Amino acid sequence: MVKRSLSLGQWLEDRAGASTLARVVLFRNVPLGVGVLYTLGFAAAFVFMVQLLTGVVLALYYAPTPDHAYDSVAYIGERVAFGSIVRGLHHWGSSAMVVLVVAHLVVVFTLAAYKRPREVTWLLGIGLLVITLAFSFTGYLLPWDEKAYWATNVGTNMVGTVPFIGDFLLRVARGGTELGASTLTRFYALHTLILPGALFLILAGHVALVIWHGVSVPPSLWNTEREAAERLREAESARGYQVESARYAVFKRAGRPFWPDVIAEDLAVAVVVFVALLILALALGAPLEAPADPTNTSYIPRPEWYFLFLFQLLRYFPGQLEWIGVALLPGIAFLALVLLPFLDRSTERRLSRRPIASTISVLLATGVGFLTTSALLSTPPAVVEERNTRLTAVQIVGRTHYRQFCVSCHGTSGEGSSDGPPLIDVAAVRDTAFMHSYIEEPQRMARSALMPGFIGQMSHQEVEETAQYVKTLSGASGAARS
Ligand code: HEC
Repeated sequence: MVKRSLSLGQWLEDRAGASTLARVVLFRNVPLGVGVLYTLGFAAAFVFMVQLLTGVVLALYYAPTPDHAYDSVAYIGERVAFGSIVRGLHHWGSSAMVVLVVAHLVVVFTLAAYKRPREVTWLLGIGLLVITLAFSFTGYLLPWDEKAYWATNVGTNMVGTVPFIGDFLLRVARGGTELGASTLTRFYALHTLILPGALFLILAGHVALVIWHGVSVPPSLWNTEREAAERLREAESARGYQVESARYAVFKRAGRPFWPDVIAEDLAVAVVVFVALLILALALGAPLEAPADPTNTSYIPRPEWYFLFLFQLLRYFPGQLEWIGVALLPGIAFLALVLLPFLDRSTERRLSRRPIASTISVLLATGVGFLTTSALLSTPPAVVEERNTRLTAVQIVGRTHYRQFCVSCHGTSGEGSSDGPPLIDVAAVRDTAFMHSYIEEPQRMARSALMPGFIGQMSHQEVEETAQYVKTLSGASGAARS
């Protein structure tokens, strides 16, 4: 009789195929040319683990009801041992995850790693991006402070502007028509149950495919003269795939082992990211403003910084056109991402030889950069605007509209009357974009508004001029008399 081995390794081998698993996952080769740019996906997954661990700790103390949410978050920061560090890590981790996932996407795009045979890996990656953004949007509400409440109010309002189904979507997002207790539990369930589950599943598929296909070879090595000669010989795409995998195997054999070489690089980058998060958490902590006050309509909401470009984009589509900025343009961008590997099917991976792809990406990057910068620059001032400033030409034109349409209710210098409130205080806290929308259609900005809308009587240009003028009314004497 054969004596059976009693080693743990053998036991695991028999029960779980341990050595096969280790060979497939760890003792694989990574092809030639794979460097530090390839570590970002691992770093993003690592930050997700940090979010998971810190999130579990936060969930032990957090109470998802409007009455207790804010206090429980404050309690974590003030009383729980290491609570403020854990909250800080979770807060900065969410930004880091967005940054890393987007950076990973940019690298994959630049290296054209989405091309055959990695289309499905790309699609799952887009899914991970969407989930990451959904995590951030739902998590923003949970502290239930002013920032959380009003930013989510604006965010869910945007959803409501989508034509035809807007009202329905708004009610689904809020769990009712108003932002309240059911919104909070809904967001909490998404944030802690549904999104982590979805992310885990998709991430597992994504990583499995990365291992299955192997990491892509950098374009500079892949698209060579030899490859061009091969291309000439095979025209048909089914065979093309086989030729490609044969070529890939050559690069892979010449590469480095994942364990311990490449994983050491991945871990080194992950440690750097973690140390950065720890420094941010210790030095800056996580912000917590005053508790949410649904009656404080003078609060000016600002979204998280990586949503600023979208927020800014909406300013160019005021009133009835808002859905273009909310749904249409982001929808087109999303569709373009999804279809990318199916539209761009050439085997050329060098960016310099992909003119359409590089043009579009430069345009997109410039656009997002421009929108984010202009949003940052137009951050509403914390102090009341200076009085008696001289009016610009646009504001003077706006004053004539104001005198024609608005004085009857708001008074000659915005001091108010029995038919309308003073605009002096409003001008101090609202930006022109808000006033623009309010003049066009007050009921869209405040459900119970009594003021008539001017969308039919004034042109877009006139509304904008009036809004610019009204903005100067802040202060006791107002600019109107200057
Ligand atoms: C028929 C009276 C009436 C006229 C005309 C009128 N408003 Fe108003 N306005 C109101 C009332 C009432 C409110 C208070 C909020 C509400 O119920 O809509 C208001 C509120 C506002 C607000 C403040 C929104 C806020 O956040 O509190 C702004 C800004 C404003 N009006 C601008 C204008 C401008 C500009 C015009 C001229 C184009 C104008 N209004 C014409 C009655 C009027």
